[in-house]
Amino acid sequence: MSKSVILGIESSCDDTSAAIIQENIILSNTTASQKIHLEYGGVVPELASRAHQQNIIPVVNQALSQANIQQKEICAIGFTRGPGLLGSLLVGTSFAKSLAMALDIPLIEVNHLHAHILAHFIEDANASPPEFPFICLTVSGGHSLIVLVKDYFDMEVLGKSIDDAAGEAFDKIGKIMNLDYPAGPIIDQLSSRGNENAFQFSKPNLENYNYSFSGIKTSVLYFIQKELKKNPQFIEDNLHDLCASVQKSIVDILLKKLQKAADDYKIKEIAIAGGVSANSKLRSSLQALSKEKGWNYYIPKFEYTTDNAAMIAMVAQLKYKRGEFTDLRTTATAKYDL
Ligand code: KG4
Ligand code: ZN
Repeated sequence: MSKSVILGIESSCDDTSAAIIQENIILSNTTASQKIHLEYGGVVPELASRAHQQNIIPVVNQALSQANIQQKEICAIGFTRGPGLLGSLLVGTSFAKSLAMALDIPLIEVNHLHAHILAHFIEDANASPPEFPFICLTVSGGHSLIVLVKDYFDMEVLGKSIDDAAGEAFDKIGKIMNLDYPAGPIIDQLSSRGNENAFQFSKPNLENYNYSFSGIKTSVLYFIQKELKKNPQFIEDNLHDLCASVQKSIVDILLKKLQKAADDYKIKEIAIAGGVSANSKLRSSLQALSKEKGWNYYIPKFEYTTDNAAMIAMVAQLKYKRGEFTDLRTTATAKYDL
């Protein structure tokens, strides 16, 4: 039997991405990131949709040529149906529907969060994939979830953020410190030369496994405003220490609840996923905590952390094998529960 070739398309936020997968192996994974949002300090939805319109055909063509695959060899098309920005999702959804109809092949909808988690099953994502059941801390610009993953298609959200997501907290606090968008990777980089114990910020005290990140954002804002009155150069003078202290606070918050969930559910297979899982402090702290707790930890390869189509292709391939196809009348959806 010939091996199935699946095209994955991702367009939920500000990255237009296409990937080709064949039996868990990614043959190509091409992403056009949108620089246009930089000058606005955040993603402008209408500009994102327009940039997706411009990028989608070149990105798909590039993914096909890098994989050395002809259109007629594609067996199915997987696309992100949600959650995300509706205008952005519509571009990928409409494109996927049209191409599936033109090639007369199945269309497969994918939940973006599901894909972040199942990225761990891409052949080169980890030395070996996590074993079920595992807990996956899924942290991105839009979501902060603790998910109990019982099987590929059986997941339970144990906790989530009641306000800002972890990535959003990095980005908003970065904005307070006059950093470019997205600030997460910049804070990560600047932190390496800072003292993470220089400043303390308020930490939430929520029951169960839920998160809150709006408190730390306000705490940083008030602290900086107060210090700027004494020293107008306070941010520049303390940038590395501020970044390292913010990063430590966010990582501590994330790991505290992750540890509670792992202890309560007696699970020792622990994974992280989503854009914030690229964070070096989160990665090193998870590694250290895993050693202490006797966990097997799974950190995906860097290119499968932030938004990418490889993870969409991965889920589409699993659904293709189950014969789970999507009707061509489907529509994109900004909200889409796991
Ligand atoms: O998963 P993702 O690419 O898009 C969403 O689905 O939201 O995540 C983007 C988020 C942004 O908030 C970005 O600042 C954050 O991930 N991020 C990071 C790092 N790399 C990306 N946050 C902290 N440290 C990083 N190294
Ligand atoms: Zn994402």
